[in-house]
Amino acid sequence: MVKRKKRKWYVPEGVEPTDFERVMMAYENKGCLVPSRSLIKTPEQIEGIRKSGVVNTGVLDLVEREIHPGMSTLEIDKLVFDYTISHGAVPAPLNYEGFPKSVCTSINEVVCHGIPSEFDILEEGDIVNVDVSTILDGYYSDASRMFVVGGTTTPEKQKLVDVARECLQIGMQAAKPYGFVGDIGHAIEQHARKNGFSVVRDLCGHGVGLEFHEEPEVLHYGKKGTGMLLVPGMVFTIEPMINMGDWRVFVDEEDGWTVVTEDELPSAQWEHTFVMTENGLEILTY
Ligand code: MF3
Ligand code: CO
Repeated sequence: MVKRKKRKWYVPEGVEPTDFERVMMAYENKGCLVPSRSLIKTPEQIEGIRKSGVVNTGVLDLVEREIHPGMSTLEIDKLVFDYTISHGAVPAPLNYEGFPKSVCTSINEVVCHGIPSEFDILEEGDIVNVDVSTILDGYYSDASRMFVVGGTTTPEKQKLVDVARECLQIGMQAAKPYGFVGDIGHAIEQHARKNGFSVVRDLCGHGVGLEFHEEPEVLHYGKKGTGMLLVPGMVFTIEPMINMGDWRVFVDEEDGWTVVTEDELPSAQWEHTFVMTENGLEILTY
């Protein structure tokens, strides 16, 4: 017997579909990968994620004010934990699949998922990603920034930080309602390559909001017109990891988390949580 996948936007016989359901059914009939119903957030859910994002941004602003040479990444972890808890929220990384701390701190050749430690002391000229994720009233938000420790670094590392930030902006602009997730990755990859850098392929952005990681996967490379349809109400991150050298990475065997570039050249990443609207993406983590 031939099995058919159950349609995501199935409406029972005799029930009149809404206009929105009709649009989704039409895309699905054309063979498009459409979001399931749970990926389209209600206005109330979007407000919840926005409030979570306000706390998340507060954390990053605090880190931005406090970060300095000689500081350990464990001190950053303490700032993040204390601020988050005192605002009635919970750091999403803490105990997430066994992650032991409240924030990811990734220095120079560390791509992401660096674990804060009293032994990792920030030095003048280091470039460090601080990746903050917050749960408030059950709603998740997720954003990260790069910091240049002491304010100045080499021209090469500064360019990497700047281009990674531009990649996030360009990816955001490429995301159009009723466009495709692949449009985002395509635009990001073009910009990284044009600047002589590469895009990490093993990690991606993701749906977020009711859980830490939801569908769809948001690849930071790829082809226009591929991947999931982008529909108003979808909430997801874009978080390109851009390498100065080769795109290949490995995971530290000892801690099982820290992602490092294979060639040990530096990597940079910026991230926001966005909601798709009828007019394009809106940032929920400003
Ligand atoms: N914040 C990361 C992201 O952008 C996820 C980190 S998972 C953790 O998706 F366990 F390392 F925190
Ligand atoms: Co994320």
